[in-house]
Amino acid sequence: MSELNAKRAIGVFDSGLGGISVVRAIIDLLPHEHLIYFGDTARVPYGSKSNETVIRFAHQISSFLIEKQVKMIVVACNTASAVALQSLQQSFNIPIVGVIEPGSEAAVKSSRHRRIGVIGTASTIRSGAYRAAIRALDSDIEVTDQACPLLVPLVEEDWPLDGVVRQVLESYLATFKTHEPDSLILGCTHYPYLKSIIQEVMGPSVHLVDSGEETATRVQKVLAEMGMLNHGNGDPGRHNFYVSDFPQKFEETASRFLGRPLDKLFKVELEVLESYK
Ligand code: DGL
Repeated sequence: MSELNAKRAIGVFDSGLGGISVVRAIIDLLPHEHLIYFGDTARVPYGSKSNETVIRFAHQISSFLIEKQVKMIVVACNTASAVALQSLQQSFNIPIVGVIEPGSEAAVKSSRHRRIGVIGTASTIRSGAYRAAIRALDSDIEVTDQACPLLVPLVEEDWPLDGVVRQVLESYLATFKTHEPDSLILGCTHYPYLKSIIQEVMGPSVHLVDSGEETATRVQKVLAEMGMLNHGNGDPGRHNFYVSDFPQKFEETASRFLGRPLDKLFKVELEVLESYK
């Protein structure tokens, strides 16, 4: 691969702003890489939409990123990874990495008693993608999963980690009281923001797997294998953010997710996005 390719940005997309947790993990691990993030804030949530719709949106965003000349695409959204990854990989000619496989691999490695739990949006859980990825690695592992649809709005609202969140979590995570996993996959971009309270409810012996962090490691591996890592002569990477809408409290939520203000932010009109196939 040429030097030019290594200097191109990594494209990352999500249904909204939650995928900034994955951007954060990539920046921590690969500070010299340039990133182009796309958050589909006009059409979030994906977790309750049909597979056909999520696949169509994922294709439009990937075409947009490819037009921006990215060297690879990271599907940060668990829902889009679960239902659209295969179709994207078949349609586009650059490496496309999702979050399901890296998260599953990490969970299988860390599970001592071969009992893994998965939480995610309704679509992610319904797709069975985590279950299939884990079973492909070890068919004897017991997998228990639970959809947690109320968690995304609580994080988006910046709801304090108080009794309300605890009560919602206790209700969802009760599934795991009977099956007791030793590793729990946080199978949604928003869940890392609830990590401390999920750990409290699950108890200290359960290992929490952040699919975003694992994906950053996978991105590093894929780029290294292809000779496309950007060492940047010591310069930090540039990070451009694109969204399809500026929702209320946008700046606040986005910079909270990133841990600092966003450098460059652009809005893409939905008609422009919808013109892509
Ligand atoms: N980004 C989505 C995911 O990781 C969560 C939000 C949504 O439902 O769109 O599954």
